[in-house]
Amino acid sequence: RPRVLSGIQPTSGSFHIGNYLGAVRQWVALQETHDAFYMVVDLHALTLPQDPKELQENTRLAAAQLLATGLDPDRCTLFVQSHVPEHTQLSWLMECLTGFGEASRMTQFKDKSARQGADRTSVGLFTYPILQVADILIYQANQVPVGEDQRQHIELTRNLAERFNGRYGKIFTVPEAYILRETAKIFDLQDPTVKMSKSASSPKGIIDLLDDPKASAKKIKSAVTDTGTEIRFDPENKPGISNLLTIHATLTDSTIAEVEQKYSGKGYGALKTDLAEIVSDWAAPFRARTREYLDDPETLDSLLAKGAEKARAVAAETLAQAYDKVGLLPGK
Ligand code: TYM
Repeated sequence: RPRVLSGIQPTSGSFHIGNYLGAVRQWVALQETHDAFYMVVDLHALTLPQDPKELQENTRLAAAQLLATGLDPDRCTLFVQSHVPEHTQLSWLMECLTGFGEASRMTQFKDKSARQGADRTSVGLFTYPILQVADILIYQANQVPVGEDQRQHIELTRNLAERFNGRYGKIFTVPEAYILRETAKIFDLQDPTVKMSKSASSPKGIIDLLDDPKASAKKIKSAVTDTGTEIRFDPENKPGISNLLTIHATLTDSTIAEVEQKYSGKGYGALKTDLAEIVSDWAAPFRARTREYLDDPETLDSLLAKGAEKARAVAAETLAQAYDKVGLLPGK
């Protein structure tokens, strides 16, 4: 079985619908056909200031949400990044292979650091993509299911894998991004020309999956659309409507054409009302399942411990090979 690996940050509390449609939905599907490794990337969250207690709670909350979307610990390896210390160990080797200029070109870093100001930007935020490289390479992943915003980080991963293999001998699988075109980028409801994002969007622009359904319905109904009347998928001229069509089609397992057809001759209001209901119908059982997992933290923690054990077996083997290749003296 080919292997997939991906991760999600626990910073946000609730996942938003962009996380789900852009990435996690694919994770659930891929556990059926792939040897799948999925993790909550708590170390990545530390690149921005975190309240320690909240971070711990949000890490459990993220794991609970992943289980609630349908990840099955018997069919995938689900774990917390910091439980596998080999990631940070491999990350150091990768940092030493990365050019300063190369790291400076990462657009997510540029965006985030520009928003925060240089004084408040940590070195961790700068090296963040390199830890991500280690996350991926340490499992010899063939594919990495993510949204479009992660594409550049996967490119960096490929470059560093090839560089390491070229310099020291081939030990790393060169991974590919697994990005579904239709849902690669879910847009902000208030500004449908930019991606929906916890760090950049206003609360009204984001559909949080753990939100009260009434709140989500309100946001969907006040989503920004163009002044026309026709319901047509046209991301350039009708970004707002196109975004709503994408969400609608994906959640109902339909094609965009089918949804367009369904609303031909109807107004924007009808689409928004139906979409609010579709999202609410999807989110209600998701919320209930998330709560069930959270209500039993012991089971949740032991499930994550088992996942970490499985992950560590793979990670330790790769790290030993990499240490050997670069010439670190084995400690006995
Ligand atoms: P994060 O936590 O920001 O996002 C988790 C996943 O959600 C996707 N995503 C979106 N997809 C479509 N439309 C959107 N508006 C949208 N917003 C977010 C992201 O692309 C991502 O797939 N650096 C990563 C976490 C990470 C990782 C890894 C991923 C750490 N190590 C190794 C893959 C492999 C991140 O911050 O994702």
